[in-house]
Amino acid sequence: MNSNQRCGIVLAGGRGTRLWPATRVVSKQLFAVYDKPLIYYPLATLAEIGIRDILIITTRESRSAFERVLGDGSQFGLRFSFASQAEPRGIAEALLIGADFIGTRSVALILGDNVFYGASETIRKAVADSTQATIFTYPVTDPERYGVIVFDVSGQPTQIVEKPTSFLSSHAVTGLYAYDSSVVDIANQLQPSSRGELEITDVNRAYLERGDLSVVRLGRGSAWLDTGTADSLLEAANFIATIERRQGTKIACLEEIAYRQGYVTVSELQKLADQMPAGDYRAYIESVINEG
Ligand code: TTP
Repeated sequence: MNSNQRCGIVLAGGRGTRLWPATRVVSKQLFAVYDKPLIYYPLATLAEIGIRDILIITTRESRSAFERVLGDGSQFGLRFSFASQAEPRGIAEALLIGADFIGTRSVALILGDNVFYGASETIRKAVADSTQATIFTYPVTDPERYGVIVFDVSGQPTQIVEKPTSFLSSHAVTGLYAYDSSVVDIANQLQPSSRGELEITDVNRAYLERGDLSVVRLGRGSAWLDTGTADSLLEAANFIATIERRQGTKIACLEEIAYRQGYVTVSELQKLADQMPAGDYRAYIESVINEG
């Protein structure tokens, strides 16, 4: 693996208070979304765009569970490292925890509970073209729950507003951010917000203010799903199930992605299938091997 390539960070800590008591012992990102753990989805987003060296940040308590579920990533032709976040002190803290991992590389940071569908080509191209910072927006009907981007008449981003109380824009900032390595310096200068967190919005604002922020609008034909509440988790599971059942293909199947991307050979994929218990997931991998 070329060390100059872009690396990835999946931030999968947090308390998951909105899903309590289910999150009392088990991290939200290990919950199943239909037929696979939630963290498979953001990992798939990174793997599909060619990011193979990935740091996974979890809470201290759940780190060993993630290590057991995901291993070192080599089975998917990826490389996973693990780090812990002692307290959920904000999304931007991932950039400090990951500072040594990032080094002089560019980085794509994705939240462990974000599910993207049908956008990988757009994301791949935007991340490949990104020089300083690129973020992605998605139109929502409830922008007051998110950070939103305000655009001027020529479509240029002018403002980022966290949880706007009156309507400013329906373009919510999604949990996927591509940065150059200077992001670590920006993150080092952040002060905690009034809620005591290092805010990713402040990082994005720093790039916006120096004219270095690209905003890519995802929209029709793609989906960005939230999984923070019981309802949104159920909706995401239903969405995935609907498409998988209709098409007979799987979304975010890391073994399949590894094979189709050329990260593993067909015999390596067969070995993975052989180690799986009999069931739908194994049968699907075998169908990928047999049908190509
Ligand atoms: P949130 O949804 O803001 O937080 P949460 O998942 O802990 O849930 P709740 O609000 O119900 O308590 O976080 C979004 C994602 O970012 C989620 O995958 C957890 C992750 N996260 C961290 O890992 N560390 C942090 O400090 C923060 C703020 C978020």
